[in-house]
Amino acid sequence: MYMYSHEGERILDGSSGLFCCAAGHSRPEIAEAVYAQLKEAAYVPPFQLSQPLAFELARRVSQMTPAGLDHIFFVNSGSESVDTAMKIAYAYHYSRGEGQRQRFVSRERAYHGVNMAGVSLSGMIKNRQAFGPGIPGVVHMRHTWLPENRFVRGQPDTGIELADDLERVAMNYGPDTIAACIVEPIAGSTGVLVPPKGYLERLREICDVHGILLIFDEVICGFGRLGAPFGAQAFGVTPDVMTMAKALTNAAQPMGAVAVSDKVHSTILEAAPEGAVEFFHGYTYSAHPAACAAGLATMDLFEKEDLVARADALSPYFLDQVFALSDLEIITDIRGYGLFAGIDISPEGGPGVRGLDFQKRLYRNGLHIKMTGDAGLLAPPLIAEPKHVDRMCEILRQTLLEY
Ligand SMILES: Cc1ncc(COP(=O)(O)O)c(C=O)c1O
Repeated sequence: MYMYSHEGERILDGSSGLFCCAAGHSRPEIAEAVYAQLKEAAYVPPFQLSQPLAFELARRVSQMTPAGLDHIFFVNSGSESVDTAMKIAYAYHYSRGEGQRQRFVSRERAYHGVNMAGVSLSGMIKNRQAFGPGIPGVVHMRHTWLPENRFVRGQPDTGIELADDLERVAMNYGPDTIAACIVEPIAGSTGVLVPPKGYLERLREICDVHGILLIFDEVICGFGRLGAPFGAQAFGVTPDVMTMAKALTNAAQPMGAVAVSDKVHSTILEAAPEGAVEFFHGYTYSAHPAACAAGLATMDLFEKEDLVARADALSPYFLDQVFALSDLEIITDIRGYGLFAGIDISPEGGPGVRGLDFQKRLYRNGLHIKMTGDAGLLAPPLIAEPKHVDRMCEILRQTLLEY
């Protein structure tokens, strides 16, 4: 639960590093598995060849993904998983003779990593402003934050109609020009925007009507953060393609993955000539043995320590304590679901200035959290106990009172 500063100060981790150390920091089980693997086989080419751990990890991950999303493609980061998911969507439609489907529908306030695909999909201005026009054909729906839903815990009752933006885009550009709609189940980096009730279901329906693939970017929401294996299960909506990274290896090794449905997988494979490469994509370090070893050791920890159930059990207490901060006038909104919450503080001196100052003060007071602008993102490791939540909220309160 803790990190140590260069001066030896103990810092409670309120954001799992960057939402990635689900099982806590520096677990020896993972370190030992990586060391053993590096001695055994430090590298095996992932093109045409592979190694047993890659298959085993794919099997273990597919036990957590929703039924029917059992085909796993390994990459090295969340950003690469987004690029890969987009290429899978292009390839899927191309394989069905619908190569004209080249548009992607994303969302304002979305974060999909920092590679050019993710930047193009991004709905956060600072992440795209300096980096050119991006991939052509990306259209943004509205984000799901509504002023009337301030301080709503869990899914807001209002806002389902925002999903109809997808229908409007389809009618404006032609449904058969759209490859996929990509959303984070909960928009994370922008400040934890929990989808309104029925919103993700509505997106699924519209996608089904128009043959559009639904991609969930589960890079933060995956692996127990929402009290279920993935956001898909938390909200009961199954996408066609799912990206993941972060907690997959507990962040002990860089790794991401994309899970795809049987339909997407078989369509791409069956269109390729017998014995030929089916999908011209992959990285030198895809399914790296050390990352696979870390992933398998992490899956063992998830199982042995029942981390998903543990997150689910702690969630009500966590949300109670976080929402109890709403009496502080400086806080303008709180949102939360599972072990994930966003706190907006009222800005001063320009967007993000107070947010950065707040983050530094928290650090000095012994708490690390991720700030995005003036939004604080709370996502403790899934091993957290009530006493850690108490301490986190105490430091938050005490630090906010300094203003
Ligand atoms: C939803 C989402 N997608 C993609 C990424 C990019 O992941 P990475 O930083 O590993 O490239 C992130 C990172 O926070 C994310 O939150």
